[in-house]
Amino acid sequence: MVCLGNICRSPMAEGIMRDLLNGSAHEVDSAGTSSYHEGERPDDRMLRTAKKYGVSMNGIRSRGLKVEDFDRFDRIYVMDQSNLKNVLLIARNDEDRAKVELLLNASHPGQDREVPDPYYGGEKGFDQVYLMILEACQKIKDRL
Ligand code: 4NP
Repeated sequence: MVCLGNICRSPMAEGIMRDLLNGSAHEVDSAGTSSYHEGERPDDRMLRTAKKYGVSMNGIRSRGLKVEDFDRFDRIYVMDQSNLKNVLLIARNDEDRAKVELLLNASHPGQDREVPDPYYGGEKGFDQVYLMILEACQKIKDRL
């Protein structure tokens, strides 16, 4: 799960997906296309949202996406077009590129919808982002 800062959207996606896949052999992680917040816990507003909906964000710390992530993961879900562009910039070949997809295409195939960046908005934006991510993650789980 990849966003820009790895403190808002992608940690929420990681927490939700981890909960949904709990007990399975699938590995879930998140990263940012930037390393601005390297080592930081998720944003307090996202932590509050997670707590409200019972999503665990234990142990999640921000980190930058690395090229090795293409070897470690089968699927790389990005939140918006800017993330998509930046992830594709470090992809090495067609195999890497084929792993990358907009997260909301899982719930809204072919529509190229984006999970909006809630960082500069109000608290309500965090609830909306939670609901969008949850819907997409449930579809991903159903298809596994
Ligand atoms: P995220 O949100 O990409 O969902 O983690 C952001 C967090 C931090 C910044 C931008 C977006 N920032 O500019 O610091």
